[in-house]
Amino acid sequence: MRVHLIVAHPEEKSFNCALHQVAKQTLNEFGAIVTESNLYAEQFDAVAGSKDVMGFSEPSGFNLAKAQRYALDNGAFCEQIKQEQKNLIACDLLILQFPLWWWSFPAILKGWIDRVLTSGFAYGQGAILVPKKVMYSITTGGAANQDEMAYYKGKIDGLYQDVFGFMGWKIVPPFIAHGVQQKSHKARQLILQDYQSHLNTILKH
Ligand SMILES: Cc1cc2nc3c(=O)[nH]c(=O)nc-3n(C[C@H](O)[C@H](O)[C@H](O)COP(=O)(O)O)c2cc1C
Repeated sequence: MRVHLIVAHPEEKSFNCALHQVAKQTLNEFGAIVTESNLYAEQFDAVAGSKDVMGFSEPSGFNLAKAQRYALDNGAFCEQIKQEQKNLIACDLLILQFPLWWWSFPAILKGWIDRVLTSGFAYGQGAILVPKKVMYSITTGGAANQDEMAYYKGKIDGLYQDVFGFMGWKIVPPFIAHGVQQKSHKARQLILQDYQSHLNTILKH
């Protein structure tokens, strides 16, 4: 099995990066072939635009989806996008590790979605990327009660459906770590263990 890991957190000592390390270790122990994109460490450019595509011009003005289709047909994507798309072609499972920011993806990860999951490659007529499996591992500010848990669930289901569900990918149950910043060291260690178990369960299916 080939797994591509994406982590979107600015601090290497964060709990998100600790979860990312657990994923790497667990997957390596399982014998998976693992690749990774650490978006902040690699200073991934989050802003989609004309610089993503070499040599595209349109008299009626710049159109991102059209430029993306031109780039795909002409091998004209910039290197960063080419490399990320290669990682997606090669993987069976994609894991996105991120903190929930404003009920959504951090901007750097949203930018990765805008720039890498391009028209004609990942979605739209004739899209060439075979749908894969995807799993989110998310940390949150914390749910105080069952109603709040249900609210989180709805939001996170939406984040799956609106991107990977739309593209026909198989959605794997998420790992959600609530309120990690308020937790003791011991409680955090238990969450890391739970994540390892969660991954092992997924890998067996
Ligand atoms: C810009 C920003 C926006 C946030 N928005 C939310 C939010 O919408 N919902 C939520 O539960 N937590 C929110 N949080 C809290 C983070 O999700 C939480 O601090 C993070 O998951 C903890 O993981 P970390 O210690 O690895 O950073 C936000 C934090 C920041 C900095």
